Amino acid sequence: MAYYRTPHNVTALPAWQALEEHRAAMQGFSMREAFNADPQRFDNFSLSTCGLFLDYSKNLITTETRDLLVKLADEVKLSEAIKAMFDGEILNASEGRPALHTALRRPIGDKLKVGGTNIMPEVHKVLGQITELVTRIHDGLWRGYTEKPITDVVNIGIGGSFLGPQLVSEALLPYSQKGVRCHYLANIDGSEFHELSAKLRAETTLFIVSSKSFGTLETLKNAQAARAWYLAQGGSEAELHRHFIAVSSNNAAAVAFGIREENIFPMWDWVGGRYSLWSAIGLPIALSIGMANFKELLSGAYTMDQHFLTAPFAENMPVMLALLGVWYGNFWNAQSHAILPYDHYLRNITKHLQQLDMESNGKSVRQDGSPVTTNTGPVIWGGVGANGQHAYHQLLHQGTELIPADFIVPVVSYNPVADHHQWLFANCLSQSQALMLGKTRAEAEAELRHKGMPEAEVERLAPHKVIPGNRPSNTLVVERISPRRLGALVAMYEHKVFVQSVIWGINAFDQWGVELGKELGKNVYQRLIGDVEEPAEDASTQGLINFFRSRHRG
Ligand code: F6P
Repeated sequence: MAYYRTPHNVTALPAWQALEEHRAAMQGFSMREAFNADPQRFDNFSLSTCGLFLDYSKNLITTETRDLLVKLADEVKLSEAIKAMFDGEILNASEGRPALHTALRRPIGDKLKVGGTNIMPEVHKVLGQITELVTRIHDGLWRGYTEKPITDVVNIGIGGSFLGPQLVSEALLPYSQKGVRCHYLANIDGSEFHELSAKLRAETTLFIVSSKSFGTLETLKNAQAARAWYLAQGGSEAELHRHFIAVSSNNAAAVAFGIREENIFPMWDWVGGRYSLWSAIGLPIALSIGMANFKELLSGAYTMDQHFLTAPFAENMPVMLALLGVWYGNFWNAQSHAILPYDHYLRNITKHLQQLDMESNGKSVRQDGSPVTTNTGPVIWGGVGANGQHAYHQLLHQGTELIPADFIVPVVSYNPVADHHQWLFANCLSQSQALMLGKTRAEAEAELRHKGMPEAEVERLAPHKVIPGNRPSNTLVVERISPRRLGALVAMYEHKVFVQSVIWGINAFDQWGVELGKELGKNVYQRLIGDVEEPAEDASTQGLINFFRSRHRG
């Protein structure tokens, strides 16, 4: 198996240089004028695939911009990189692993070799195990220590072993099967455990300890707390296997915790945590929506994989979104990107994309260890609309930063209440419209005069009412959030992140930056509990340790 190596210094490529010149020429570009001049702009800059419709016409682009961005994708040999990922080449060079989350949604007859072994039978064997567990729980055959069926499932996991499953299971609540409630326990904060356990009965609760490494502090601490709680509630060690199962690639550690070997669902090192909701890490999803819907989710992701593999770049949804992100981050100095779902069920997508994007592309060296020569991943932030309109959209409209945004909105609501959905949809569209159109000084003045204001007041107030406009956004419209379309949507963002990593020449699949905090956490903990008296490396940390200790004395 070959290592995939960064072949380029992106800023030195001809297309990059051409984009720099083009950016200078775009200085006075006005989206308002572009729409007025070209009645086809919406058609020219929109795409439809896998049940998703993308309008990217409200961007600071012309067809020349798109051509140059596509040229950049060609010059970094994006097609080769995509093929390398799907074929299982070692893209994750620092950990010596392929990144094969796409294998998890491939059909049963496909062949894909990792280290000489076809991994597809194993992938489908695990899907079979998941099916069996889901059936047993849904049919009431899996019983707790008092022989009552399971009513509550608690996923104990953090990061990728939490955010993806939580996003999907909660986004697909309209598909949830009656009888089993899913809960998530992620943080080491005891209050989270306290609040959740108060709602549960041990005899009817199943805990899934979900940790690829089975070495994550928060997860292990919560698993121990859950076990102690289960025993305190009347459960016994002998019946523990009815209440604790695991998803992990670290069998030995899961067994050492007390989980029976047959209750450990495997994970593979070729699936990164933030790309793992398609594996057994997705157990809470399957338990919530049932196996048929879980397979629909996989199949939606698979259709997006096929689109990504085959569509020309200018018509390729993840590629175009990635290129637009590069355009703003690298040529317009945008530092962040907002994800704004206008759908209650999709409210957790921002958190999932935060990990997906920021843990993948928050890097400063390239695959070969050399420093990057340009900015890499943006800060991903945002939240559900219309709530955000009454909180942070002010900064999007009139702040000093250019912040591109993705609006995501379904056409059909699962829960129509009077005309709420029409208003929600209207709000979504009007926000992207306001960002694009803005309000000129002349318009602001005319408005104030129309209200009959004296000229001095018009002068005084007009500057505050001016909205610069020309602020970019994409709008992703989904007819209705279904397992299939959600699968496509999430896979689309995975591929967007990958494309950007290829352009920047970085490794999207490692996360060494989070390790230092974990190591230092142990040192600080030892000082907090008094096991180590030697002062911390710096006075600030030591001062805060002293503060904590002075309040916990005696
Ligand atoms: O600390 C970061 C991280 O390693 C993520 O990449 C991962 O998703 C999360 O922790 C949880 O890891 P695990 O599934 O091994 O517990």
